[in-house]
Amino acid sequence: MSSTIAMLETKRAAARLGGGEKRIAAQHAKGKLTARERLDVLLDEDSFEELDMFVEHNCVDFGMETQIVPGDGVVTGSGTINGRLVFVFSQDFTVFGGSLSERHAAKICKIMDMALKVGAPVIGLNDSGGARIQEGVASLGGYAEVFQRNVLASGVVPQLSLIMGPCAGGAVYSPAMTDFIFMVKDSSYMFVTGPDVVKTVTNEVVTQEALGGAVTHTTKTSVADVAFENDVEALLAARDFIDFLPLSNRAKESGGVPERPTADPWDRAEAGLDTLIPASASQPYDMHELIAKVVDEGDFFEVQPAHAANILCGFARIEGRTIGIVANQPMVLAGVLDINSSKKAARFVRFCDAFEIPIVTFVDVPGFLPGTAQEHNGIIKHGAKLLFAYAEATVPKITVITRKAYGGAYDVMASKHLRGDLNYAWPTAEIAVMGAKGAVEIIFRGKTPEEIAERTAEYEARFANPFVAASKGFIDEVIQPHSTRRRIALGLRKLRGKSLENPWKKHDNIPL
Ligand code: HXC
Repeated sequence: MSSTIAMLETKRAAARLGGGEKRIAAQHAKGKLTARERLDVLLDEDSFEELDMFVEHNCVDFGMETQIVPGDGVVTGSGTINGRLVFVFSQDFTVFGGSLSERHAAKICKIMDMALKVGAPVIGLNDSGGARIQEGVASLGGYAEVFQRNVLASGVVPQLSLIMGPCAGGAVYSPAMTDFIFMVKDSSYMFVTGPDVVKTVTNEVVTQEALGGAVTHTTKTSVADVAFENDVEALLAARDFIDFLPLSNRAKESGGVPERPTADPWDRAEAGLDTLIPASASQPYDMHELIAKVVDEGDFFEVQPAHAANILCGFARIEGRTIGIVANQPMVLAGVLDINSSKKAARFVRFCDAFEIPIVTFVDVPGFLPGTAQEHNGIIKHGAKLLFAYAEATVPKITVITRKAYGGAYDVMASKHLRGDLNYAWPTAEIAVMGAKGAVEIIFRGKTPEEIAERTAEYEARFANPFVAASKGFIDEVIQPHSTRRRIALGLRKLRGKSLENPWKKHDNIPL
C-alpha cells in the first residue's frame, strides 16, 4: 500500500516537471515563469486543485508515441482568488512548446464546461506554439471545440486571457472571444500570420513585437486591454481585476456584484470637484481626477488605457460594490466620440450589462468627430454601437453631465431617453445641439461679426446651462459637484432592486 501511494507522488513529481529542467531553465532565461509558477502567483496559496494531471496525447505519428509527457502541455483545474472560485488553464511551453493537441484541448474544454455549470470565471494563461503540428487536423478540431465553448460562455461567466508567450495562427481567436486580454511586453505576441509569412506575401519587414506585441495590441489594434512589464505584474493585476467581477451572470441570485469592505465614507464631499471645471470651455481637465475623487479609495481599474484615450472605461467601487465607469476624457481630442472610442465603450457597456454591473457615465462630450477619415471608415455604424449598447442595457444607469453634452453625443451618452435611471448635471453643464458659436453661425449666417457676437452671448445665456434640459425633465436634478459621490451612492442603493426587461428575442442585431 505505502509503495503504491509513494508511486503516486513519483508520478506527480514527474508530471510537475513538464518538459524537464533544461526547458524550464530556457523559459526562465526568457524572463518567463513556468505554467505552474504562474498559477502560484495567480491563485491564493495552496488553493489550486489540479485535474487531468496524467492525461497523455494520443498521437502515434512522427515518433510521438515515444514522447509522452503527463499532462500534455497544459495545467488545468480550479483555485481561488481572494477566496472566490475561478477555473484556470495554463499552457506549458516546456512541453512541445505548449502546442495544442486533441487531448490538451479536451482538458481546457473540461474546465470550461465545469465553469459554465457552476458559474465561475475562466482564466486562460496562453503560452503556446499553436496547433500541435504532429497531430494535424485533430489539433484544429481541438481549437474549434475551445472556440465553441468561448462563445457559449460569453456573457455567462467572465473570461480573461493572459497572453504570456506566443499566440499565433487561428489560436488567437480563442483569446479574441474572451472578455478581456492582458499581455506581457516583449515576451508575448498575437498575430494571424507571423513576420515570415508577412514578408513572403506583402514584402513587409516587421518584427514580432511591432506586428503583434503587447504595445501594438494595446495602442493600435485594441485587441488587448492592458500591457504589463512582466509575468508577475500581469498575474497580480489579474487578481485585482477578478476582484471586481461577478462570478457569473447568475450572481444576481447570490447578491450581485462582489462587495468588499471599505472605510471610505459613502457621503464623502469633495470640495475639489467644485473647481474642477476650468473657466474657459475650451480648456481641458483630467477626467481621471473626477473618477479618483468619486470612487472608493480612488481605486479605478482602467481597461484599454492606451487606446482611444478620449473615452475612459474601467471598474471601480462605490460603497464597496463594483460599478463600470464610462467617461469622456476632455484631455484627449476634447473627449470627442469617434470610431475607436465608440467601439471601446460599446463593448465595455455590453460586458457590464451582461454581468449586472451598474454603469456610471460621466459626460463631457463636444459631439462626434467630423471628417472624411471618420465618415469613410464608418463612424455611422461604429457610433451606433455605443448608442445600441447603452439603449439595450438594463442594468442601473447613472449619468452625470459635467460640462458639454452636445448633439447626438448627448443622446448616446446614457441619456434619459435611453432609459438612464438617474441623470444628473453639474451647474457647469451645457446641454445643447451644438456649441454656441457654431450654432449662431448657422442660424445667423451672413450677419456682421458684432451681431454674431451678440447672438452668441444670447445663445450661451439661453442654452449653455443644464436648466433647459432640467425644465423638460431630461435631467433629474442639477447637483453640486462636491456631492457627486453621495448622489451616486444613494442612486445605486435605490437601484439595487431595479427590474427591467427587454422584449423577448433570440438575440439582437447590434451593428457589428
Ligand atoms: C509541436 C512545437 C510547436 C508546434 C513549438 N514546438 N511549436 N511542437 N507543434 N506547433 C516545440 C518545438 O519543436 C520545440 O521542441 C519546443 O516546442 C520549443 O520550440 P522552439 O522553436 O525551440 O522555441 P522558440 O525558439 O521560442 O520558438 C517558439 C515558436 C516556434 C515561435 C512558437 O516554435 C514556432 O514557430 N513554432 C511553430 C508555430 C506554428 O507554426 N504553429 C502552427 C500554427 S498554425 P523541443 O523538443 O526542441 O523543445 C495554428 C493553427 C491553429 O496554430 C488553427 C486554429 C483554428
